[in-house]
Amino acid sequence: MFLRNYWYVAALDEEVRDRPLGRTILGEPVVLFRTADGALHAFEDRCPHRRLPLSMGKIVDDVLQCHYHGLRFAGSGLCVRVPGQDHIPQNARVRTYPVVARYRWIWIWMGDPALADPAQICDFHWLSDPDWGAKPSYLHVEANWQLIVDNLLDLTHLAFVHETTIGNMALVEHAAVKVQRAPNNVLVTRWIVDQPAPPTFVKVGKFTGNVDRWQIIDYTPPAFLRLDVGACPTGTGAPEGRRVGGIGMRNLNAITPETETTSHYFWGQAHDFEPHNAAMTERVFEQIKTAFLEDVAVFTAQQRMISLKPDAPQVDINADAGGIQARRIVDRLYREEQAAAAAHATAAE
Ligand code: FES
Ligand SMILES: [Fe+2]
Repeated sequence: MFLRNYWYVAALDEEVRDRPLGRTILGEPVVLFRTADGALHAFEDRCPHRRLPLSMGKIVDDVLQCHYHGLRFAGSGLCVRVPGQDHIPQNARVRTYPVVARYRWIWIWMGDPALADPAQICDFHWLSDPDWGAKPSYLHVEANWQLIVDNLLDLTHLAFVHETTIGNMALVEHAAVKVQRAPNNVLVTRWIVDQPAPPTFVKVGKFTGNVDRWQIIDYTPPAFLRLDVGACPTGTGAPEGRRVGGIGMRNLNAITPETETTSHYFWGQAHDFEPHNAAMTERVFEQIKTAFLEDVAVFTAQQRMISLKPDAPQVDINADAGGIQARRIVDRLYREEQAAAAAHATAAE
């Protein structure tokens, strides 16, 4: 199940240069490239001549040339050259997709192009904000996109999956948790007050005593999760809104379905302490990356079990509240999108 009328992250900015990049998004093959003026282009990755992926081709004279028989396609998607003949068949054109560079990511619109409004791109400004140190990254994951959403909305797993990095038992046993639902948003707020800091926080925050730690998870469909996380020395007023003497980070996640069982996982870690210290950015990034690879091992193994027996029953516990709410939102939006598409098709008949 994919929601189509949304902006998704297609690539890291640095991945899209003057060489074509092929990537499957929502089950559709796409090729991304830039022309010399820096303009971004996204085409269906299938040559209309004999259906070779255009991503096997190259940019020649600022247009995309197919690797097989050399047809060339301009940014509009129209064929502009057929080697050996003057006539260009009218249907020699490829589908184009709206594409925008923002927050060091490349965003693509896979739905109805008439609805593509870049103002609707989810805010990830921390990745490009000079007041924050940040590093965006990418992982390919052999798991359905909603398994990743579930994971990020239920941070009790930190105590088990990440016990040596960002987790400890205080997260499960001593958290005050609140789940708030808006029509298109889930906010999970967790406060862990007067508890030991986890290993990673001790390293970068140099805490010597207990801390008040927060995890505020903002979910926006289809799969954007922006986590406001941090800690301050206990008793200094963080739960009341005074964040002093501590550390704050944003863990930023944009998941793009590749297929029903694989995902493009774009993520980044931003930090508000020593924002211009590149070594610190790297250090924070590496620690979180270690934790993320622990998650990837979990999603991949879950997907294996799900694929073996898709209808095997599963049990819900309290910690699933955020994930269940998110899935309800996605189900509703999917029904709405399908109904709108059906109405559109009927009107066009
Ligand atoms: S398959 Fe692309 S030019 Fe023939
Ligand atoms: Fe995790």
